[in-house]
Amino acid sequence: MRVAVARVADFLPGQRRIIQIGKRSIGVFRVGDRFYAINNSCPHQSGPLCLGRTVPWARSDGPGDVRVTGERTLLACPWHGWEYDLVTGQSFLGPGERPARSYEVSVRPGQDLNEDAALKFPDRVPGPYVAETFTVSVEEDYVVVDTRARSDR
Ligand code: FES
Repeated sequence: MRVAVARVADFLPGQRRIIQIGKRSIGVFRVGDRFYAINNSCPHQSGPLCLGRTVPWARSDGPGDVRVTGERTLLACPWHGWEYDLVTGQSFLGPGERPARSYEVSVRPGQDLNEDAALKFPDRVPGPYVAETFTVSVEEDYVVVDTRARSDR
């Protein structure tokens, strides 16, 4: 199922939205011009992961050398500080622990959403009656989350 979260123009860099889809709570983040979505439950002890701070990926070639690369962004859980890659949900603490679920996020023109049946009625079977409808155009871009976990695809 795909869910439209917000207009891109209303979702500024550095902002996050925590949305409820069925029983799932999912955090959607905008870091620069990139969007990410990750489950709002920390795999460590089920803390509210998406209330944590985002931190840039850093590299080091040795003592005294630390560089912020910007190639990845991590999300730190507010309870015990475990950090998770926003793209893959992978943590680098607790080896062997499962990653947080992460989701695909895309930016789509509003007109596509109008025509995308999966966005409107993902789990419904059409009945016998059809009411008259009218064309409505939506001209702005929207942030859309695909709620299938990356590992399910
Ligand atoms: S519950 Fe998230 S780090 Fe412990």
